[in-house]
Amino acid sequence: MQAKLEQLQTNALQKIEQTFELEELIQLEKKYLGKKGELTKILKGVKDLPNDQKPIIGKLSNQIKTHLEEKFQLRQESIKHVKLQEELQNEKVDVTLPGKKRKLGNIHPLSQLQAEVEEIFQQMGFSIHDGPHIESEFYNFEALNIPDTHPARDMQDTFFIDKNTGEDKNRLVLRTHTSGVQVRSLLKHGAPLKIIVPGRVFRYEATDATHDSTFDQVEGLVIDKDINLSHLKGYMEEFLTRLFGKKADVRFRPGYFPFVEPGLELDFSCPFCPEDGSRCKVCKDSGYIEFMGCGMVHPNVLKAANIDPEKYQGFAFGFGLTRLLMMKHKITDIRHIHSGDLRFLQQF
Ligand code: FA5
Repeated sequence: MQAKLEQLQTNALQKIEQTFELEELIQLEKKYLGKKGELTKILKGVKDLPNDQKPIIGKLSNQIKTHLEEKFQLRQESIKHVKLQEELQNEKVDVTLPGKKRKLGNIHPLSQLQAEVEEIFQQMGFSIHDGPHIESEFYNFEALNIPDTHPARDMQDTFFIDKNTGEDKNRLVLRTHTSGVQVRSLLKHGAPLKIIVPGRVFRYEATDATHDSTFDQVEGLVIDKDINLSHLKGYMEEFLTRLFGKKADVRFRPGYFPFVEPGLELDFSCPFCPEDGSRCKVCKDSGYIEFMGCGMVHPNVLKAANIDPEKYQGFAFGFGLTRLLMMKHKITDIRHIHSGDLRFLQQF
């Protein structure tokens, strides 16, 4: 029996040494030490041995069991170590390879320009106001003295949200300009008021290189006692000078908007023309750039906002932020701006 046990140990040790796979080692351990393993069987049979044999064989079997357990454990660790070394060898990291560059986003050029415009007006004491994109016909048209017959009320120009139910003046529309916020803000805050309102507007346009159906405007409104057009001229000259970093001149031309009287168009001296006095393409050789609509706020608008036109007056203006962006960066097609095309956006 003793010889049989020693032979079993020799065989087991030999096989352990010849095993190089973890799964095979597990099977081998089962074969010797598992529930029905060879050594387990011997250990179970010790009780049936003659009394003088029992302690000797029992002790020897247990010693062999402990020894084999240790050997299996050691072999398992050594196989794992070899496997790990193999894996590390295959997955070698080459620290000299160039790294993967993460693409960084940037602020949209329109938002960058809006921030710049807001900062300049804030420096001149203006507050920034906002209004809803979905506006009532009242604020978008009615309160601004825009008659029913005005072409902007036409389906051609406006995205109506509600169906036309005849006389209803409070249908919802996608606002066609930021001017609706004039009356909204005056009703809420009263006079005096000195605000700009940057924001998105929507028109039922056939788009082309200079017209989009979604674009951004900046409204301006200053209501106080004794405000006149020279204040508007002064603010705009200062704004444009700061924006382009070059002394700007502005000039008025007559213009028509139902919510201002007198109504004007404002042009400014082209900041892109060379210093030598020659002209450039941006201003189409004219030396001036057509910029925005403006004028003195119509008394009817002040009345709609519960402001007494005998006490207060002021000016309003509205320019296209999207068009300003095009001009500033010499963008030739407005449709690039909302295209989401990274080749375009990454230039800013
Ligand atoms: C208005 O929207 C008036 N609310 C402006 C105003 C405010 C006048 C206060 C007087 C007092 P107009 O429709 O001209 O005006 O638009 C103003 C600016 O928006 C234009 O000068 C132009 O720069 C820009 N704009 C107009 N239509 C488009 C378009 N389809 N795509 C891009 N920009 C446009």
